[in-house]
Amino acid sequence: MQLQDILYSQGFGPRRLCTGLVQNGLVSVASELVTDPSADFEPQGLRFTVEGKPWEYHAKAYLVLHKPAGYECSQKPSAWPSIYTLLPAPLRQRPVKGGQPGVQAIGRLDQDTTGLLLMSDDGAFIHRMSSPKHHVPKVYEVGTADPVDAKQVARLLAGVVLDDDPRPVRAAACEATGEHALRLTLTEGRYHQVKRMLAAVGNRVTTLHRSRIGAFEVPPDLAPGQWQWLSPAQLAAVSQRG
Ligand code: URA
Repeated sequence: MQLQDILYSQGFGPRRLCTGLVQNGLVSVASELVTDPSADFEPQGLRFTVEGKPWEYHAKAYLVLHKPAGYECSQKPSAWPSIYTLLPAPLRQRPVKGGQPGVQAIGRLDQDTTGLLLMSDDGAFIHRMSSPKHHVPKVYEVGTADPVDAKQVARLLAGVVLDDDPRPVRAAACEATGEHALRLTLTEGRYHQVKRMLAAVGNRVTTLHRSRIGAFEVPPDLAPGQWQWLSPAQLAAVSQRG
């Protein structure tokens, strides 16, 4: 694949710009400056730098963001900064055939919720992961305003009715982890589901953190506001139901 096409595919801007980046001596491959835009490289696993910043070729982007509080998951946020501002420009600009450019968040977390947020530019993956039929467990660490009692835990497990749907929603697992804390596992995702479930049992969420998706937990070295590519093993783990 030509170097200019590699840069274009990775989101370094329109083709003309990518050609110019190479011609102007701003791109190195394996520490060697390359000034021929049509120089050919095997893209898989290719590491290169653009204007001194290292990058790695990925045919499709699968990544995880540790969402911090105070960010909205929308491209056009209403009151808070967008999570998309936490990503480097190439991830926001990657060309997507027949779709809007760049990676997209898979599902949404509220502005004040922290934790795991998957992002991708693979339409089929996004569709599969967001489908209501895709019952991957998601684990939430919940801080509560009032003490958690056994009755509340039992009701969350038995199922509660939310105001927009007569079908009860139940937690796949729920345990108190402190006087004002519980761990809740959900296998479906309705709007503000955790907050509304807690309200339905007479409590109120004060803090909310998504700590696990499938078998994938927040990597210990991934601080709030940081993102990383998902390795093949991590990508398999996010779809794991057990
Ligand atoms: N449930 C909520 O209420 N909010 C979130 O951000 C995620 C799940």
